[in-house]
Order: sequence, then C-alpha cells, then structure tokens
Amino acid sequence: MIDLSGKIALVTGASRGIGEATAKALDRAGAQLVLSGRTVEDLDRVSAELSRPALVVPADLSQPGSGSELAERVLAVAGGVDIVVNNAGIPMRRTPEELTEADVDAVFAINVRALVMLTVGLGPSMAARGGGSVINVSSVAAIRGPLGRVAYAGTKGAVDGMTRALAADWGPSGIRVNSVAPGIITTAIWEESRRTVPGLIEDLAEQIALKRWGSAEDVADAILFFASDLSRYVTGETLGVDGGMGRIGASARPTS
Ligand SMILES: NC(=O)c1ccc[n+]([C@@H]2O[C@H](COP(=O)([O-])OP(=O)(O)OC[C@H]3O[C@@H](n4cnc5c(N)ncnc54)[C@H](OP(=O)(O)O)[C@@H]3O)[C@@H](O)[C@H]2O)c1
Repeated sequence: MIDLSGKIALVTGASRGIGEATAKALDRAGAQLVLSGRTVEDLDRVSAELSRPALVVPADLSQPGSGSELAERVLAVAGGVDIVVNNAGIPMRRTPEELTEADVDAVFAINVRALVMLTVGLGPSMAARGGGSVINVSSVAAIRGPLGRVAYAGTKGAVDGMTRALAADWGPSGIRVNSVAPGIITTAIWEESRRTVPGLIEDLAEQIALKRWGSAEDVADAILFFASDLSRYVTGETLGVDGGMGRIGASARPTS
C-alpha cells in the first residue's frame, strides 16, 4: 500500500482532468495537497472533494516570471514540498503553415518555461527536506510525430529532456525527476477536436494497442507510482501511459 502521509504535494493544473485525478489519488494516499491553476472556483471544488482541505495557490503560468513567483508563494503557504506534479499545460494544434511565433511563445511559456522555473524554485526546499519527487506531464506527442502539433510536440520533447537533465543535477540531493507521457486521455483538452473532427474517437482508438482512450485516473495512478517509494530507484525516466500507442505500430492485420 502506498503511504504518503506527512508528504506535501503540489499539483499544477489541478482544477480538472489529469491534475484533478492526480490530486485525488495523492490525497487518498495521505498527502497534504497544494493545488494550483487559474480558476479558483474549480480549485476550491476539487479541494472540497479531498479528505483534507488543500492549500489553494492560484497562478496564471503563461505570464513571464509566473513559475518562480508560484514557487515562492507555495513555499510561503506550505513551508516546503516533497512532491511536485508539473501537469498544467495547453495544446496547440496548427499546421506548419499556420504556425506563428506568437503560437510558439504561448505554448512554450506554460508547457516549458513555467514548468522549469517553478521546479528549480522548489528544488532547494525538497533538498532541505531530505529529497523529493518531481513528476512532469509530457505526452506521447514527444515521441510519435503527431500531425499538426509541431510546437506542442516540441514542448513535450523539451519536458522529457529537462526531466533527464534535472535528474542528473538533483540525484545527489535525493530528488528524483521523472515524466509520464499520456496518450489519448478523455479530458477537456479534447473537447473541441471531438466536436469538430468526425470519427476522431474511433480513428485514434484504432491506433492504441488496448483499443480505448485512457482516463485521467489511468495517468494519475502512474504519477502516484513516481510520487511514492515504489519508484525509489527510478529517476530520469519517461513512462508512456498510452495503452501501447507510443511504441507499438497499429496497422491492418494480415488476413493470410
Ligand atoms: N488529455 C490528453 O489526451 C493528454 C495527452 C498527453 C498529454 N497531456 C498533458 O496533460 C496535462 C493535463 O492535460 P488535461 O488533458 O488534464 O487538460 P485540461 O483538462 O485542459 O487541464 C489543463 C489544466 O491546466 C490548467 N491551465 C491551463 N492553462 C493554464 C495557465 N495559463 N496557467 C495555469 N494553469 C493552466 C487548467 O486550469 P485553469 O484553466 O483553471 O487554469 C487545467 O487545470 C497537460 O500538460 C497536457 O499537455 C494530456
């Protein structure tokens, strides 16, 4: 059984989707949660559904300086952290021809810049507490080459590279740094595409070995593994949580 009692866990993008499911999984394991996102009402709703009230620290991570500022505010209210789940992120679906510099800046600002500045701002606190676990939420997009997602895929490749580099820097301090790479997960991030692209659910499911979209809870359980001592000798890794989409080819089965 996973026991995180006495641990303080920050989850960004905790107001819905994978972040909400992760906050609930860490709470069930006994951690004290610190929730961040932009929408205070949603964070308060998630907090009210936990077994103990969370500390709510809202932030818009698209703004310059916001990652470092959030780190300072988290340390001010929580005193320190043991577990950091960098989950907040936005999609960016553009063809190469449509893509603008503003699009690239927008998606890198939150998915990369804020993630790394928040994390480095919290590192000394984790080291002072004897170590910790950072879990970055990457994507199958970093390894699979999805159509129309050049900037988004770039942000998630950056996340995986930073995961390995930070794992090297912080290993001696007992801080483990890993990432999970979700595949196709049923959350609000897909709402518009599901409405506007006919057959999307079936087309994508066909490319998944397990033949179904994932749930936010499927990802949260993998994050819980990295947050806990079950993964005590694992650092610098990226774990696909994608039903077999990232590394398994899916083509028509030969009939003869
Ligand atoms: N769903 C998938 O299929 C999938 C696949 C691979 C990777 N991922 C990754 O998983 C993570 C979570 O995605 P999800 O599917 O759960 O998406 P989601 O339901 O859209 O949730 C995104 C979260 O990020 C927060 N957020 C968005 N913009 C923000 C900003 N500027 N500042 C601070 N917080 C912000 C949102 O809260 P507010 O709106 O309240 O700020 C929300 O809590 C993302 O990093 C995404 O790239 C998802």
